[in-house]
Amino acid sequence: MDSQAAEKRVQELHNVLNQYNYEYYVLDQPSVPDSEYDRLTQELLQLEEKFPELQTPDSPTQRVGGEVLDTFKKVRHDAPMLSLSNAFNEEDLRDFDRRVKQALDEGSYSYVCELKIDGLAVSLKYENGLFIQGATRGDGTVGEDISANLKTIRSIPLRIKEPYTMEVRGEAFMPKQSFIALNATRDEKGEEPFANPRNAAAGSLRQLDPRIAASRNLDIFLYGVAGAEETGITTHSGSLELLDRLSFKTNKERKVCRTIDEVISYVGSWADKRPKLPYEIDGIVIKVDSLEQQKELGATAKSPRWAIAFKFPAEEVVTKLTGITLSVGRTGVVTPTALLQPVKVAGTTVQRATLHNEDLIREKDIKIGDFVVIKKAGDIIPEVVNVIAERRTGEEEEFSMPTHCPECESELIRLEGEVALRCMNPKCPAQIREGMIHFVSRNAMNIDGLGEKVIAQLYRSGLVHDVSDLYRLTKEQLLHLERMGEKSTDNLLNAIEASKVNSLEKLLFGLGIRHVGAKAAKTLSQHFETMEALADANLEQLTSIHEIGDKMAEAVVTYFNQPEVSELIAKLQAAGVNMAYNGPKLAAVAASDSFFAGKTVVLTGKLHQLTRNEAKERIEALGGKVAGSVSKNTDLVIAGEEAGSKLDKAVQLNIEVWDEQKLLDELN
Ligand code: IVH
Repeated sequence: MDSQAAEKRVQELHNVLNQYNYEYYVLDQPSVPDSEYDRLTQELLQLEEKFPELQTPDSPTQRVGGEVLDTFKKVRHDAPMLSLSNAFNEEDLRDFDRRVKQALDEGSYSYVCELKIDGLAVSLKYENGLFIQGATRGDGTVGEDISANLKTIRSIPLRIKEPYTMEVRGEAFMPKQSFIALNATRDEKGEEPFANPRNAAAGSLRQLDPRIAASRNLDIFLYGVAGAEETGITTHSGSLELLDRLSFKTNKERKVCRTIDEVISYVGSWADKRPKLPYEIDGIVIKVDSLEQQKELGATAKSPRWAIAFKFPAEEVVTKLTGITLSVGRTGVVTPTALLQPVKVAGTTVQRATLHNEDLIREKDIKIGDFVVIKKAGDIIPEVVNVIAERRTGEEEEFSMPTHCPECESELIRLEGEVALRCMNPKCPAQIREGMIHFVSRNAMNIDGLGEKVIAQLYRSGLVHDVSDLYRLTKEQLLHLERMGEKSTDNLLNAIEASKVNSLEKLLFGLGIRHVGAKAAKTLSQHFETMEALADANLEQLTSIHEIGDKMAEAVVTYFNQPEVSELIAKLQAAGVNMAYNGPKLAAVAASDSFFAGKTVVLTGKLHQLTRNEAKERIEALGGKVAGSVSKNTDLVIAGEEAGSKLDKAVQLNIEVWDEQKLLDELN
């Protein structure tokens, strides 16, 4: 066969194999026996071997890449991946509907109800129809590039039916059957079984070797198109239809409902049907159908106002409380935890449940030896619901909190107005260890590979006394620790090194100043821009910031007044840790006389030098408002590459239009 004929045959094979793949994995309706599929795949493999130039990234033979990765690349989402607020009962759903009704003065609207698949959210990017990248949700803004693993999911098309450049989102999951089979094999091999299909799916997609994910039979349902209106679509149900047309797998149990009563009856109908599904669901998602109305409703920082997740009620079980153990957190709070006779709740075996504090133990009248009702809050965190007093024998023991720290034996103090008991010793080993765990966590310095066990070892062995010592660790020292091989040591050192350039807010949050959460750390960083300026700030300067209250201002001043803190910061600085804010400048003063002040701006099309989110943040920092759709109230439209219907509308309405460069010039 000459190369021209080979090229033609390869193309034919792509087409048939993609079609058979689609019928099998997306439609669940195979039209040919497996042997036929295998035969054609073999033919394609042979042709690709003979004519390597014909092997393309979207070839059906390219699902499982050969390369094992070192780490996952971080990727920034074009638009944030929000999560949903929850409803737990009918009343919550009616409240949601009331809020929607109030905001949509236009009157009529309808909802789309979908199953809430219990897996993990992923985003898939296509360029001119070709799959180019898949990522996890991560913290909503930045996720991890798990493209190689996602390519192994056969229901994900490597090429879609029309040459769109688009980002779609959905839930990757492990079907119940695959989960049962996987755990049976793990049991046989003496490996730890996965707690539930969600963990199994997440664990599989976080493997660096794509062959592992390929062996796990994962699947996906797509439930959204990012920036759908740019494709000319006006409803969410239309997005789902577009996804179907492009050969994506969507869930067919969805239903458009015109009233909240219809929604409630749809939700109710799933209580019985749920166990019969071949995959796990943990609720029903309800979304306003019209994209225009979704825009009108908008979103809070965390979740859209146009959607809600109804969560099925948690399963409750009875078990015996055999003891109460105590742990000391990073702020010195001593928390009691119930030890339970192991029991299965909602798919996992539970042996512990937090009791939060002494007051709660009194309130619920919990004694050691009691039979208690357990459930999982939000389906994840085990908690004691109540005691079954009728089952008491008289042998149960009263529990009282200790007077001294279980870790360092300092006296415990109950601060005014608090229910918690605290260890006030800043040198308490438990507090230091927990502080380090916080320092390396995702929203703080984000150092992968430093788990609780490694930190405990580092502390015990005297290698680190405070977080600045992390930056002095050597390969040699790490290799001596248990379970630290060559590769994990290199990865860890790279992660520590990479964290040095983090913007100030991550460091600030990581330091664990009382009352300063991630959001406050960001606000403080935007205002003061350097650690030095913040450390010098007085109460008045701090409270003059709108979002900073008296309590937080006091905590900040007290924190920086401690000589140990100045020392710690000096050590971090000497180690090369960045002490400045790198994010978009607040330019509060500039805002009032900025071009954008008071203007409504719409961003459309693809930007190259900024992400949409960055552009939005920067325009907002200069006093502008960024809206989702073009109307007569729009002052300015920023049109990136391939801008579509919004640009047309702007021209129609005679609204000023800028390109990306002009935006950058003005921002700078
Ligand atoms: S829509 C902005 N639809 O539930 C709306 N989510 O907190 C984004 N999920 O992170 C989500 N099935 O992982 C949507 N049909 C569905 C879903 C679904 C499962 C997950 C998703 C999301 C979480 C909601």
